[in-house]
Amino acid sequence: MTLPVCVVGSGGREHALARWLAGSADVVVTPGNPGMAGRSPEGRSITVTAAPAESVDASLYVVGPEAPLVDGLADRLRAAGRLVVGPGAGGARLEGSKAFMKELLVEAGVPTARHGVFASVPDAVAYLRALPGPPWVVKTDGLAAGKGVLVAASLAEAEADVAAKLAGSFGDAGRRVVVEEGLSGPECSVQVLCDGVRAVPLVAAQDHKRVGDGDTGPNTGGMGAFAPVPSVGAGVVDRVMDEAVEPLVAALRRRGIDYRGVLYAGLMLTADGPKVLEYNVRLGDPEAQVVLPLLEEDPMELMTAVASGGLSAGRLGAGRAGAAVCVVLAAGGYPEAPRAGDEIEGLGPDGQLAAPVEGVTVLHAGTARPDPAGPFVTAGGRVLDVAAVGPSLAEARRRAYEAAGRISWPGVHYRTDIAR
Ligand code: AMP
Ligand code: GLY
Repeated sequence: MTLPVCVVGSGGREHALARWLAGSADVVVTPGNPGMAGRSPEGRSITVTAAPAESVDASLYVVGPEAPLVDGLADRLRAAGRLVVGPGAGGARLEGSKAFMKELLVEAGVPTARHGVFASVPDAVAYLRALPGPPWVVKTDGLAAGKGVLVAASLAEAEADVAAKLAGSFGDAGRRVVVEEGLSGPECSVQVLCDGVRAVPLVAAQDHKRVGDGDTGPNTGGMGAFAPVPSVGAGVVDRVMDEAVEPLVAALRRRGIDYRGVLYAGLMLTADGPKVLEYNVRLGDPEAQVVLPLLEEDPMELMTAVASGGLSAGRLGAGRAGAAVCVVLAAGGYPEAPRAGDEIEGLGPDGQLAAPVEGVTVLHAGTARPDPAGPFVTAGGRVLDVAAVGPSLAEARRRAYEAAGRISWPGVHYRTDIAR
């Protein structure tokens, strides 16, 4: 009997990973969510278990979110002889500590914003006052669920934020702060697969972080995404690989860090060239939802190459004709105070559209099913991702919105301008 592949995580990104991997293997997801279980069109099973990853018997482990990576899950699995897609705790510090990330960037000669790392308010304030501004940027060193970054329009606001963070408003994550100069320019991201030595870029994707149409309202985990991105062509990707990815992977190796997994570089394209804002050590959510369906490679072969060190040079997903669009359906009150327990209409018993739309998959990000034979209900801020593929961006977009219109619950909201 061949062993399944294990996906770690419970959101829309992990459901997308599970569906993709189920093109060539049976999949077990932990902890998963009840909307993930089922069978792929290829006849592979997706099952959900509450057992921890370490006790799931699998041929390969793909870790979705950053928290378990920062916590050393990949090291523990590798110590037990397992194949893993995801860096160990040493590599995951790139996302777990902005101070470490900046140190490595400077060491590797990767362009980034001028910055200092501080544990004392007077030192941080003195540094802030010497920066040109506006804006002034203050970040927690540690993981803060995407909420640790302030881009301040006034020096007074930045100074107050330094004081609040160092006084513990983000707990241990804010024991140190990174203060940096404000940059300007369009943002872009490049995700790569890395097998410890070789880094290969994935087709470019772009997310939409603000909750409202036209990039208005508060920041969220991501309200939608599309791929490919016409403005991020081969020239931009090549430059980012040369300036921000290859030197970083080399610096990691010099430190003895064998980085096997996904590296996500977030950049600003400034007048002085691309500068790195952040690295994530996993696929973006919802970027994964639009990138994975565009890959032509066999999923298991590709992930095994990442985990065991055998990636071929090239570019992944860029050659395939077609595009993908993902629209996130959010719960009432998201992002401030998402409401749980609202009954979702429009889904069949398998969690997919009751009335299907060509090219569309419904990915469950925050749903529950109190009665295993009953309806799905909301159980998170981002509830469902409607992911569509199509021959063009316009057609993928049309399909995604047609499908989104077939799903409803009290308070549901989503952006109407994804990929426009
Ligand atoms: P980060 O989590 O570090 O990527 O920051 C989150 C967001 O804050 C970025 O996507 C940018 O929009 C913004 N940001 C971060 N650093 C800067 C900077 N130095 N200048 C201007 N905006 C920034
Ligand atoms: N969508 C941005 C992220 O996953 O960090």
